[in-house]
Amino acid sequence: MLSFPILVILSLSALIMRTTATPYPTYPLKPFFLVTTPQRTPSANSSLLPSVSATCLFDPYHQPNFLLRLAGPGYGSLPNFTLTDGTLHTTIYNFGPPATGTFEFNSTTVLEGQELQFLAAPQGSGKLGLQGGYLLAVDGAVEGWGICIGELGQSVIKWKSADASCNATYIQAVAKPPY
Ligand SMILES: *[C@@H]1O[C@H](CO)[C@@H](O)[C@H](O)[C@H]1NC(C)=O
Ligand SMILES: *[C@@H]1O[C@H](CO)[C@@H](O)[C@H](O)[C@H]1NC(C)=O
Ligand SMILES: *[C@@H]1O[C@H](CO)[C@@H](O)[C@H](O)[C@H]1NC(C)=O
Ligand SMILES: *[C@@H]1O[C@H](CO)[C@@H](O)[C@H](O)[C@H]1NC(C)=O
Repeated sequence: MLSFPILVILSLSALIMRTTATPYPTYPLKPFFLVTTPQRTPSANSSLLPSVSATCLFDPYHQPNFLLRLAGPGYGSLPNFTLTDGTLHTTIYNFGPPATGTFEFNSTTVLEGQELQFLAAPQGSGKLGLQGGYLLAVDGAVEGWGICIGELGQSVIKWKSADASCNATYIQAVAKPPY
């Protein structure tokens, strides 16, 4: 039989788990665009977010895993995303290798110190969510994204990078691209 103090600890930890384990919102279900901005709050018009930048997928050396990089004005067609089961999905044309054609890329498990990565392969459930329906989160944490100088001098998105040259950012899901 459990002693009284252990029961108290068990019920307390159950209470803490209940209050912190908020389910990730799955809204918006419509495809959205991912933008970076230092502003946490949303804007009805994504063009009005301060220092806003659109993002697109990028594979530095025709590697299988694509990264997310900033895409300035004039970038042809920005990719849109959906989020299911903690994983981002986007359908883009890959000029190859390994294969040329249109593929659904899925985000891989987000790891500390690494880029947000996408593979044209099925992925299990992930840790990503949209807090408040718009703020990209990892296990519920919205702070930790960084804009970092990546391969080939591109600005790529990393999670909790120790690299001091990364600039902290929020990643917002927006209905329309900012430009
Ligand atoms: C959003 O803001 C931009 C910049 O001020 C403006 O050019 C554009 O017309 C606005 N879009 C909408 C839908 O209001
Ligand atoms: C989202 O991307 C897909 C694939 O490129 C495209 O067919 C679709 O029209 C896009 N939707 C929006 C809302 O941009
Ligand atoms: C990405 O994941 C989805 C399931 O979520 C899967 O249907 C799709 O085939 C995957 N993409 C590729 C290229 O395997
Ligand atoms: C970080 O911000 C500074 C100041 O705006 C800028 O000069 C620098 O290029 C940025 N670094 C990255 C990795 O984007």
